[in-house]
Amino acid sequence: MRAADIQDDLAEILVTEEQIRQKLDELAQRVAQDYEGKDLLLIGVLKGAVMVMADFVRALPIQAPMDWMAVSSYGASTKSSGVVQIRKDLDTDLHGKHVLIVEDIIDSGLTLSWLLENFESRGAESIEVLALLRKPEAAKVEIDCKYVGFDIPPDFVVGYGLDYAERYRNLRDVAVLAPHVYS
Ligand code: XMP
Ligand code: MG
Repeated sequence: MRAADIQDDLAEILVTEEQIRQKLDELAQRVAQDYEGKDLLLIGVLKGAVMVMADFVRALPIQAPMDWMAVSSYGASTKSSGVVQIRKDLDTDLHGKHVLIVEDIIDSGLTLSWLLENFESRGAESIEVLALLRKPEAAKVEIDCKYVGFDIPPDFVVGYGLDYAERYRNLRDVAVLAPHVYS
């Protein structure tokens, strides 16, 4: 796709690359303080959280291993189904670990509430959530997210790891997808 065609698909830039970088730096400082001396494990949720994890972990002044989980609740649609499927499981035993889930976005919260329950049942010592974006008006379940980047309106967004049908993940900013793309 040409750059000009991509611009036509975007209604509005919501969060810029620079705002994301600053926010992740702030969150990394907080996380480093909160987890000093603890056995921290970062768990990224594939594929959307790849960019968040890559930039967050490089801003983080303490060492922490990363693991990845792939779940799907979406397919190519823009609405959460609430049905979560494990596509790739963790490689790490969670017993005694202080888990920080790294997410791109909390929309309905259904995916995360499922993940939180799943990780609790595997014996994690503590579990917290870091999400770059959150849509408070779209919440169907309450998620206690300790580290939030930006609260945004309930529009479908793409970029910085977020896709629509596997497109737009490589955009540097987060933008609202123009409705003509999916309607
Ligand atoms: P729920 O509704 O379970 O959704 O909180 C979590 C997952 O759904 C994806 N998601 C989005 N992906 N633009 C996207 O590209 C969006 O606006 C959006 N809202 C939700 C995302 O993978 C997230 O982890
Ligand atoms: Mg997605």
